[in-house]
Amino acid sequence: MASVTKAVALLATATLFALQVSYAAVHKVGDSAGWTTIGNIDYKIWAAPKTFQVGDIIRFEYNPQFHNVMRVTHSMYRACNASAPLATYTTGNDSITITRKGHHYFFCGVPGHCQAGQKVDINVLRTTATAPTPSAFPPPSVPATKAPGPSSSTAASLRDSNSITGILIGLAMIVFAVFSSTAA
Ligand SMILES: *[C@@H]1O[C@H](CO)[C@@H](O)[C@H](O)[C@H]1NC(C)=O
Ligand SMILES: *[C@@H]1O[C@H](CO)[C@@H](O)[C@H](O)[C@H]1NC(C)=O
Repeated sequence: MASVTKAVALLATATLFALQVSYAAVHKVGDSAGWTTIGNIDYKIWAAPKTFQVGDIIRFEYNPQFHNVMRVTHSMYRACNASAPLATYTTGNDSITITRKGHHYFFCGVPGHCQAGQKVDINVLRTTATAPTPSAFPPPSVPATKAPGPSSSTAASLRDSNSITGILIGLAMIVFAVFSSTAA
C-alpha cells in the first residue's frame, strides 16, 4: 500500500515539475473571431492584457481565400506597406513560434486590410519562465530522479487548461498528505 502511494506521489511530483517547466503558451490572435476584417476587431486591445514570452506560439486562423499573414518591420507596419514582407504565411492556420524578445509586427497583406485594422504588434517582454520553482512543493523523502516523467507533449496539452493544473496540484497535495501520514 505504502509503495503504491509512494509511486503515485512520485508521479504527481514529476507531472507538476513537467507542467512548470513547459510553459509555452498558444495565443490565438483575435480569440474566437480569429484573423479578420469583420467586426472591426481592435487587435491592439486583444494583445494589451497578454504577456508574450519567447517560446510562445502565435496562431493566426483565417480563411486563406480572403486573408494572409505578413511579418514586417516597424516602418512597414506603420505605413501598411506590404511590398517587402520579412515573411508571408498563407495556410489559414499559421502557428508562429516566438524565438526572440521585442516587437513582432504582423498584418494582412491583402490591399486595404491593414488600413482597416487587420494588424497586430506582438510585444515579447520576457525571455525566461517565471513559473514557481518545484521546490515550492514539499520534496518526497526518496529521490525523484528515477520517476519516469510524462512526455512533454502530454504536459503541453495539459498545460492549456488551468483547471487541470489546479486539479493536479490539489491531487498532489492530497497524495503528499496521505504519503506523509502512512510513512510516519
Ligand atoms: C514600401 O517599402 C518599400 C521597400 O522598403 C519602399 O521601397 C517603398 O517606397 C515603400 N512604399 C511606400 C508607399 O512607403
Ligand atoms: C489549427 O492548427 C492547430 C494545430 O496546429 C489545431 O489545433 C487547430 O484546431 C487548427 N485550427 C483549425 C481551424 O483548423
